[in-house]
Amino acid sequence: MEKVLELISKEVGDAFEAAGYDRELGKVTISNRPDLCEYQCNGAMAGAKKYGKAPFIIADEVAEKLAGNEMFEKVESVKPGFLNIVVSGDFARSYIVRMLHEKHLGVTLPGHEPTIIIDYGGPNVAKSLHVGHLRSAVIGESIKRILKYTGNKVIGDAHLGDWGLQMGLVITELKERQPDLCYFDPDFTGAYPKEAPFTVKELGDIYPTASAKSKEDEDFKARAMEATKLLQDGYKPYRALWHHIMNVSLADLKQNYKNLNVDFDLWKGESDADPVIPGMVEYMKSHGYAHESQGALVVDVAEETDTKEIPPCMILKSDGASLYNTTDLATIKQRMDENHPQGIVYVVDKRQELYFTQVFRCARKTKLVMPETELHFVGFGTMNGKDGKPFKTRAGGVMPLGDLISEIDEKMYARIKEGNPDMPEDEAKDTAHKIALSALKYGDLSNQPSKDYIFDIDKFTSFEGDTGPYILYTIVRIKSILRKYEAEGGNVKEAKLGNPDSPAMKDLMLGLTRFADAVESAARDFAPNRICGYIYDLSNAFNSFYHGTKILSETDEYKKSSYIALLATTLKVLETGIDLLGFTSPEYM
Ligand code: ARG
Repeated sequence: MEKVLELISKEVGDAFEAAGYDRELGKVTISNRPDLCEYQCNGAMAGAKKYGKAPFIIADEVAEKLAGNEMFEKVESVKPGFLNIVVSGDFARSYIVRMLHEKHLGVTLPGHEPTIIIDYGGPNVAKSLHVGHLRSAVIGESIKRILKYTGNKVIGDAHLGDWGLQMGLVITELKERQPDLCYFDPDFTGAYPKEAPFTVKELGDIYPTASAKSKEDEDFKARAMEATKLLQDGYKPYRALWHHIMNVSLADLKQNYKNLNVDFDLWKGESDADPVIPGMVEYMKSHGYAHESQGALVVDVAEETDTKEIPPCMILKSDGASLYNTTDLATIKQRMDENHPQGIVYVVDKRQELYFTQVFRCARKTKLVMPETELHFVGFGTMNGKDGKPFKTRAGGVMPLGDLISEIDEKMYARIKEGNPDMPEDEAKDTAHKIALSALKYGDLSNQPSKDYIFDIDKFTSFEGDTGPYILYTIVRIKSILRKYEAEGGNVKEAKLGNPDSPAMKDLMLGLTRFADAVESAARDFAPNRICGYIYDLSNAFNSFYHGTKILSETDEYKKSSYIALLATTLKVLETGIDLLGFTSPEYM
């Protein structure tokens, strides 16, 4: 559906043309002086030189052509040559009515459905999810939803870290703790037990211990590397252990993601790309893309125009082991073969940017992707504590994600119980969790992904200001009015939107007309923060309208119906907005 700015620009362009000027001069923008007008056009200023006329003369002529046009309430030519534009209430109303009849509220959808793979989450199996993984999950989930809504076939893949050194570390540490397990007996010939020899809790302790040891103990690290290589080469006992680690860890991960309202289409991992590696390596060698360097196999990816050094992409280490690179490249190959995506988007910590530059260049150079395949890196910044340093627990350790969510859940639960002592227990818990998620996710998403941000739980959970709970509070307020309207015998579906009868109502209506712009711009730039900004502005516009308008007590039935229709539309837009961000609203709060 054509955007409001396009419609107005077309009309103003026509007027420029009718007055004898280039129609391109009619480009209209949102006013930067909302106190004076809603939209503005500076075309007369731009055209003055070309036509050798004073800008205000051109502006006067154009304004004259637009006089009486039903799209506008007022088009004013002001010195030195601006056109100040106020659209008509009827234009705003009819635009919204049309928008409600369109698919996806007027978002422009592509003629076909491009396939986009989004690689996000990236949890490492055997390590519990911690806040470091929060951003990838939260931002990735939102981008996935936004890309789906704007007409793509999106496949979200968790790309589990299930193949690297951490697996060898876990196996090696397990061997130290339980050397008598059959997996460590080279003579064992029986069937391996179905039960894992550890719980998820133990697993959570095994990895950090092993990781710490490997940093101090060279020998331990060497053994872990050997175990990794054995696993990758298909050594049966370690494969059996690996399956246990996967099962135990995945069940826990899935639970954690579910709790976050994050949902992957694929739960593939680095290990899934392993079978592709030998063929890919052969191909890279035989086509002369890869060469040996100090025993390792590498692909040069430096380019002449580089201003900083981009090191070669290492495909195999000197001992023949594959690396993080190798699995990422093999995964690209696999995705191209299986899903034929038009694009792959990676939502990963921005500290991996150089790494992805190497991987993308290598994939292009070796023709694993088509020239037109888009590869995007959406790098995100660090979540810091109030001290400006990476977020930690009070004791200074890494905060498990589950603990963080429970903490916010409890805070919100106390608040809900205080305000609604009679709310049934289940509902109070559910409501608290919904608000907690809104606080956590909005607190993150309202920042540009690439920026670091400060995790400030008191600020994020506030019901006022630019926060998730404020948006939910606004939604709940609307729901409550609509519920009362129906309880008094009204039918929300039959309510009919009329023309605005106050500046606040007009403002809210113009806000609604901007929905598709916000979503399309968020999709184009992988920027969920644009949706946050949009729904925050819309919530403010709604609350101003609400505070200045009698709604349920309005006695003019025509007006009342119009207000109700406006509320229902605002609700729909806000609910769609939060769904795109990955959270939902409660009924009461
Ligand atoms: N598991 C990785 C980590 O924790 C992130 C994976 C990102 N995705 C990828 N395709 N490399 O750092």
